[in-house]
Amino acid sequence: VSSIKLVTEIPGPRSLELLARREAATPNGAAKLTPLAIVGGSGAVVTDADGNQLLDFAGGIGMLAVGHTPPSIVAAMQQQAAELVSAGNIVVSTEPAVEVAEALNRLTPGDHPKKTLLMNSGAEAVEAAVSIARAHTGRGGLIVFEGAYHGRTNLTLSMTSKYALFKKGFGPFAPEVYRLPFPNRYRRPDDMGEQAWVEWHCRNLRHALIAQIDPSALAAIVIEPVLGEGGFLPTPPPLLQTIREICDEHGVVMIADEIQSGFGRTGTLFAIEHAGVVPDLITSGKSLGAGMPIAAVTGRAEIMDAPHPGGLGGTYSGAPLAAVAAREAIRIISEPAFLERARAIGERLRSGLEKIQADHPGLVGDVRGLGPMLCLELVKDPVSKEPDMDATAAVCAAAVRRGLIAIRAGLYSNCVRLLPPLILTDDQIDEGLGVLAAAFDEVAAGRS
Ligand SMILES: Cc1ncc(COP(=O)(O)O)c(C=O)c1O
Repeated sequence: VSSIKLVTEIPGPRSLELLARREAATPNGAAKLTPLAIVGGSGAVVTDADGNQLLDFAGGIGMLAVGHTPPSIVAAMQQQAAELVSAGNIVVSTEPAVEVAEALNRLTPGDHPKKTLLMNSGAEAVEAAVSIARAHTGRGGLIVFEGAYHGRTNLTLSMTSKYALFKKGFGPFAPEVYRLPFPNRYRRPDDMGEQAWVEWHCRNLRHALIAQIDPSALAAIVIEPVLGEGGFLPTPPPLLQTIREICDEHGVVMIADEIQSGFGRTGTLFAIEHAGVVPDLITSGKSLGAGMPIAAVTGRAEIMDAPHPGGLGGTYSGAPLAAVAAREAIRIISEPAFLERARAIGERLRSGLEKIQADHPGLVGDVRGLGPMLCLELVKDPVSKEPDMDATAAVCAAAVRRGLIAIRAGLYSNCVRLLPPLILTDDQIDEGLGVLAAAFDEVAAGRS
């Protein structure tokens, strides 16, 4: 049975109509990756305004590990909405927010006492994590990595790497942010073996404590265990271990930003579990809320308690409606069977992507990721590895025209990334891969 059912061209007339209204009513700068107008969703399938059914391999940029409108979450939200939408967690206490904090304290890596702060967005959570680290250490400096994406507030933009798309015209940026190269396995020097190249990055981090910032001024090292926006590059475990060692040696706070890689995305609850490293603070968002705006910072109780009473929070933080969605999403995603299925999805997707690469060796330079968090990197030529941003945009557009929502990523915008709901059936995986293969065939044919 196919999930994709098209009754008009994509985008259809109603999608185009809404897109035109959106363009007239909202600023040009507001990002939009596809021309689709969506009116409904269930599982991994969405319905557009023209009545077409599409497979969603973007999941709202990875916020729908549990899929669209899971019945238990919808029911919990309906009940909560009827009882109490919000009274503001700065003013009162509500149980759903406490339940989410308790669950995150229990489920995040490490057995130490933990506390959780709830926020509304990933950027807010990262920004709060930095404030907490600064309050704890009494220091200001941050080390971040090239290719990182941490959000769009001034501080998180300062920490974000990709300049042209996210930062152009928006400076001045926050001071005391030091950026190191990220180990990109695919683009490492030709004469450097994989181990030597990882060791170089570990040494370079230690070197930065001489060359760029003294540890006595360093509050935190912030890293995504798998680069999200930066192109699904897993951080090599030795680098995570080196960060851990440096943080222990110098009283620096290790912050793992798992807004994109967390909540089952890599087949474990958190991506850093693959490396066995325990960060001091971990941020979660996106799939945590099953589509509702909620994000969190969880970490060592003594660090989390550093800011003065009243120093943290916001009007909507931990609002009951979002918190019940998160409570139910956590319940679903933390089930071993859910994570096992996520890993199986990853294996099936990976073999399909590798077949696409084998069919298009001149176009697909790399297939990579961790578990089901997978992407393809597109190049103009596999020897020079020159990024092919245009072909990437063309593949995504061709996939959308055929009924598969796929989006790009990467420092050079030359990766097709897959962030599907982690409840795909095998039929849906194969159907999505078939569409993606056809999109690559089309773009490769146009090239030659
Ligand atoms: C790793 C990471 N951190 C932070 C953010 C920012 O999250 P939000 O868009 O919810 O502010 C994102 C969003 O893509 C992300 O991938």
